[in-house]
Amino acid sequence: MVKFYPLAKKLLFQLEPESAHALAEQALKFLRWWLPPPYQHPMLKNTILGMEMPNPLCLAAGFDKNATMLAGLNQLGFGGVEVGTATPKPQYGNPKPRLFRFPKQESLQNAMGFNNKGIARLVDRLERVRPLACVVGVNVGKNKDTPLEHALKDYQQALQASLGVGNYYVFNLSSPNTPNLRDLQNNSFVGELFSMARDLTHKPLFLKVAPDLPSDALLKVCASALDYGAQGIIATNTTMDYSLLPGAKPFGGISGQVLKTKSREVFRHIAQAFFKKAILVSVGGIGSAQEAYERIKMGAHFVQIFTSFIYQGPLICRQINQDIVKLLQRDSLSSIRDAIGIG
Ligand code: FNR
Repeated sequence: MVKFYPLAKKLLFQLEPESAHALAEQALKFLRWWLPPPYQHPMLKNTILGMEMPNPLCLAAGFDKNATMLAGLNQLGFGGVEVGTATPKPQYGNPKPRLFRFPKQESLQNAMGFNNKGIARLVDRLERVRPLACVVGVNVGKNKDTPLEHALKDYQQALQASLGVGNYYVFNLSSPNTPNLRDLQNNSFVGELFSMARDLTHKPLFLKVAPDLPSDALLKVCASALDYGAQGIIATNTTMDYSLLPGAKPFGGISGQVLKTKSREVFRHIAQAFFKKAILVSVGGIGSAQEAYERIKMGAHFVQIFTSFIYQGPLICRQINQDIVKLLQRDSLSSIRDAIGIG
């Protein structure tokens, strides 16, 4: 298994990125029976807002948009998988090509545009999946052809349709690939959004934010979300700071190693303002146990990865979790719970 990914990656990287993703999807569906059991360790377990998480390393939204790979991803040992972003109606997304690799920088650029089969298909799949060890988050967004003034309805419809199937819910207002979506990251919309959602459910609700908002505005919008009923913040989505990646296209969002410092700094600001007042999730450029542990010590209750999973392969999950246990032992901590926010 350890030796297998470098070879598989060579083959996968010969393919156009979306074809490689489709192949990986089939592999995860059909080869999961041959996967070893997930790595487990009692020091990694935590209960967050009533959700029992086997470990703090989760898969970020966008990889399993239609919840077709959950069983395989669970078997790889992720503590949680965030499915979606799902929109009320199915949509194709932006024209191809819309996903680009930058292997030297272990980074990606994507302009997918919420390509997904719609919330009803996602719910149907989640209803049929057997009980999983991992926590399942449902990330929802608006359709591209819904005008901004009707966006609230889209979020409401997607949330309402999926209320029975997720452990937690995420409102994605931070994708750079749906025109003007990021304009919804303002206090008044966020207030309306979480008031609406709180009336519908007591399950945990999160806001996912972009790393590109000025610091003041970002903290205000997070405060609004928390005031109106969000339990947590997920920071961050991809960046539109194209100066970070030589050769970047002038559209879409950048993820991976070149996002690491920016995402960490944005998370640091959020943690300084909201640690102990909210559940905080850090995502962006995490590719090692050291970085994951650093974010946890900064105040993350759990972390998410996406791009490093593509570059390092399926064993990254086991590797990072094993190494986090070693870091906890090095610091004489008996549980991941004790590490949250100690930095
Ligand atoms: C994403 N991301 C994303 N986020 C989200 O909330 N909804 C989505 O549908 C998607 N789709 C998506 C597609 C692709 C191809 C990529 C690379 C990313 C963003 C993702 O969840 C994460 O926030 C960023 O990628 C930063 O993390 P990494 O990749 O640096 O670990």
